[in-house]
Amino acid sequence: MPSTIAPHGGTLVNRIVEGPTREQLASRVASLPHITLDPVAISDVEMIAIGGFSPLEGFMTKRDYDGVLSERRLAGGAIWTIPVTLAVDESTAARLALKTDVALVWQGAPAAVLHLEDLYRPDKEREAQQVFRTTDAAHPGVSRLKATGPVYLGGKVSVIARPAHTKFLPYRLDPARTRQLFEERGWKRVVGFQTRNPIHRAHEHIQKTALEMCDGLLLHPLVGETKGDDVPAGVRMTSYEALLASYFPKDRVLLAVNPASMRYAGPNEAVFHALIRKNYGCTHFIVGRDHAGVGKFYGTYDAQRIFDEFDPAAIGITPLFFENSFYCTVCASMASTKTCPHAESDRVSLSGTKVRELLSAGTPPPKEVSRPEVARVLIEAMRQPSAAAS
Ligand code: ADX
Repeated sequence: MPSTIAPHGGTLVNRIVEGPTREQLASRVASLPHITLDPVAISDVEMIAIGGFSPLEGFMTKRDYDGVLSERRLAGGAIWTIPVTLAVDESTAARLALKTDVALVWQGAPAAVLHLEDLYRPDKEREAQQVFRTTDAAHPGVSRLKATGPVYLGGKVSVIARPAHTKFLPYRLDPARTRQLFEERGWKRVVGFQTRNPIHRAHEHIQKTALEMCDGLLLHPLVGETKGDDVPAGVRMTSYEALLASYFPKDRVLLAVNPASMRYAGPNEAVFHALIRKNYGCTHFIVGRDHAGVGKFYGTYDAQRIFDEFDPAAIGITPLFFENSFYCTVCASMASTKTCPHAESDRVSLSGTKVRELLSAGTPPPKEVSRPEVARVLIEAMRQPSAAAS
């Protein structure tokens, strides 16, 4: 029996219009008021359109937004932890009328139409506190929130032209497609793995431990907007390919990209990430240490504890929690404090900063921290940063 997990809210949303409906909308866009999207907004539009954000069919109206901030639920009752909103400035808002259509423009061409249902002014301090658990502008999510316009537009979107991607084309698999592939492969239990980093031994360890209990792994790196000092998506993708080629059975892993942008909202984003992977057809989802965290804003296991605050059936996808993993020289294997009794001094574990220092000096980190094949990709990328990022 293949995986039959229902999308969040029950139906996989598809907001891509085709045929006569598309032609009719496309013929009207030139006469509509235009809003130019930024990279986060176009990625949200795409995620909505392909059903990655099911049951959302558009940008949140005030009812949904208020529900998310107060109850962590959409107005319809489904659990949801991250606002998906379209912010504009006052002068743009003044040009728009409710119950009309607005053209959403990306890279100079209309990508979608927003059927404007709602226009409201959020309390951004409250939003920051509820979503990011801080109002500190040193948090990348908070600083982005404060930089966006003061008015939110809500309403369904109809996509007339998906963004013309040039990167990672073989890996751009929509939720309907990953679901189909899981079915074809006969995978009943599929574990999803979110990442915005190169895969080091700790990541590999938790993926493989989860894979021992599941039929397949969806390796699902996020390739939407990330903060400037994260490793560029292109470099990461090359490192994933190198790892998969040498260390995973081909028929147990599907590598695909998640076009969403990173929020760095720690616990709330862990739930959001899980719901997205449910929409892609995963039955299980890995949450390790400080999932979607940044700096010291969240406790190491806050992103695991948040799942206890919800009815598991209402979340639907099963989270798999992992302790901080490391290589223990006495065990001579990867381990965590749940499985290893030895001293901290017996561990080979390096901070991210130390790993970066080694890589930028052209020195591969110990093989207990990073596979040599992965280290090679990262060292090469540091030697030629512009080539690697393109
Ligand atoms: S994230 O922002 O996408 O969460 P990252 O790519 O570093 O960042 O992590 C991917 C997943 O691996 C997350 O679930 C994270 O909690 C987990 N993880 C990362 N490093 C470790 C580790 N050393 N031990 C256990 N889990 C880890």
